[in-house]
Amino acid sequence: MYVEFNQSGHQVYLPKWLPTLAKQFGSGMMDEKELLYLASTIMLAKWENDSYICEIGTYIGLTSVFMAKVASNYNIHTTVLSIDPFERFNPDEVNPQGNFNSYLYNIKMHNLEGMCIPLACFSKDAARVLSPTISVLVIDGSHHYDDVSKDLNLYIPKVKNDGYIFIDDYVSWAYPGVCRAVDEYFSNKSHALLHKSNYVIYRKQK
Ligand SMILES: C[S@@+](CC[C@H](N)C(=O)[O-])C[C@H]1O[C@@H](n2cnc3c(N)ncnc32)[C@H](O)[C@@H]1O
Repeated sequence: MYVEFNQSGHQVYLPKWLPTLAKQFGSGMMDEKELLYLASTIMLAKWENDSYICEIGTYIGLTSVFMAKVASNYNIHTTVLSIDPFERFNPDEVNPQGNFNSYLYNIKMHNLEGMCIPLACFSKDAARVLSPTISVLVIDGSHHYDDVSKDLNLYIPKVKNDGYIFIDDYVSWAYPGVCRAVDEYFSNKSHALLHKSNYVIYRKQK
């Protein structure tokens, strides 16, 4: 099957095992279809020795495991770095609280402890220690406007040129803060919009 990006027209061929994997890891956080777009984004990215995937907001790590399995199956030697304060985060009406033990359980169960690594902190505090060699950035942490704006401003500079930015929950009625922050941030940038639905995918341009 092919996945088509609705803004750029890119078509990505997906092998048969991928929909099966997406079915296994689809959740209320990211459903099967969204995971297929995420996998396609990983396949489009350029991978070098220092490249890594950075996920802001991991919850219990199901999407982290999915991304690691996609990368491994494509012989991409990379790391999935997941940033989440887990139990230190106070959940609210638009944000669930991550669970560190469940995250550990999931990465252990899939033998991915060497590939999936957590940073148990708020995203605003972690950006300064990250190398600017992210190939795929997934933003799915706090869904409040101020936090999403900070994530965009702090982490997109850490993405390689031609790297990809995947932002979940671009849904105005449910997450107005996400939409406002994304629209404002990208309005005066030249990054290329590849796909827009209830998530958005950009390619970073200089
Ligand atoms: C929607 S869930 C993430 C779902 C995950 N990406 C997936 O696909 O399974 C949001 C997560 O963001 C975390 N979070 C909330 N505020 C955060 C912040 N400021 N920095 C990083 N993570 C945050 C929460 O603890 C929660 O685990």
